[in-house]
Amino acid sequence: MQFVIITIFPEMFTALIDFGVIGRAVKTEKIILEFINPRDFAEGHYRRVDERPYGGGPGMVMMAEPLYQAIHAAKEHLGHDAQVIYLSPQGKTFKQQDAQTFLNMEKLILLCGRYEGVDQRLLDQHIDLELSVGDFVVSGGELPAMLVVDAVARLVPGVLHDENSKVFETHQGEFVDYPHYTTPRVWQGISVPEILLSGDHQGIAAWRQAEAERRTRK
Ligand SMILES: C[S@@+](CC[C@H](N)C(=O)[O-])C[C@H]1O[C@@H](n2cnc3c(N)ncnc32)[C@H](O)[C@@H]1O
Repeated sequence: MQFVIITIFPEMFTALIDFGVIGRAVKTEKIILEFINPRDFAEGHYRRVDERPYGGGPGMVMMAEPLYQAIHAAKEHLGHDAQVIYLSPQGKTFKQQDAQTFLNMEKLILLCGRYEGVDQRLLDQHIDLELSVGDFVVSGGELPAMLVVDAVARLVPGVLHDENSKVFETHQGEFVDYPHYTTPRVWQGISVPEILLSGDHQGIAAWRQAEAERRTRK
């Protein structure tokens, strides 16, 4: 799975790249993350990518041309059929099914906005999908992009230690996950459910299924 991320803050992604299963997936090249900084296509000494909005109002707006150049460079690299997703609080809400759809695409370009957002002409002409990670506003598209990369990357075969982790996962199928317990057997006076200590694998599977159904209903 290949991602090209268009961002003015590529350093933020060390939070994703340096840790945990996704970090390992990057190191073993099960996923490939590359970055394009729109500042590299900006003009002038300060390489500005933002300007004041026409019509006035607060904040700055990301200019179309540096972002267009960045998208063009990403497509030259990945192929012109690569989908371009703009992370936006106005977009379609990201769901687990979307993660599977993106995995099947094998390559994706993610555009991270900043400031008040992006010149509408760029969005109208060069974006395939606007994607929101929830009904709230954060300061930039980088954290939302990291959520999308993480959710897709853990579906790549071989990224998780145990592929079975995905089978019973919340949002993967009809039910939420069953409850999990580990040592010690008794903690703050609360025991682990007896069935989990029984060694009865069929009984454990049935209990977990029943718990998943009960929690989903709740
Ligand atoms: C401060 S926000 C701009 C919000 C914009 N003025 C609006 O009200 O729709 C800056 C950038 O953060 C990103 N962003 C903020 N909230 C997001 C969310 N819930 N999902 C995805 N991206 C988000 C977008 O890339 C956006 O361009």
